[in-house]
Amino acid sequence: MSNTEQQLKAFTNTRFLGMLDKQGQRRLLESAKALFFADGAVVVREGDPGDALYMILGGKATVTADNMGTPRVLAELSSGAFFGEIAVITNQPRSATVTARGQLSVVKIPKQVVLDVLNDYPKVKELVGKMGVLRTEDTLEKMMED
Ligand code: CMP
Repeated sequence: MSNTEQQLKAFTNTRFLGMLDKQGQRRLLESAKALFFADGAVVVREGDPGDALYMILGGKATVTADNMGTPRVLAELSSGAFFGEIAVITNQPRSATVTARGQLSVVKIPKQVVLDVLNDYPKVKELVGKMGVLRTEDTLEKMMED
């Protein structure tokens, strides 16, 4: 396992909410919307603008990115994981497609709320930003494998 993959694994197990205090958690959850997706439903699509961050409450999701016309699997995410942070933080389009694998339940938090809260928690902002960088590196590594 590469260094990037090891760090990623450690981060993936870090719950987003667990990094905040009660007040920060409340601010995020006040504007959060619970959503359910059936098997195969697309939650975010590569190339779309990123308007929100998601946390998985239950079930699993598959992360894929287009590799010259063929989707390449980058990761499987499960309960407690978050996704969608890259577009929210960088203002770039979605870097990958996230699809429900079986029944998936998530909470969706609007971009501006996430950015406002992260601005008040610089340590968490740094960690979430680092997670995005590691995931981007991991994606690049996987896209270059044959
Ligand atoms: P974003 O680019 O906003 O939308 C797609 C999301 O998939 C991305 O944010 C990350 O949260 C997630 N993602 C992208 N690449 C990877 C990867 N290599 N491993 C795990 N998750 C990823």
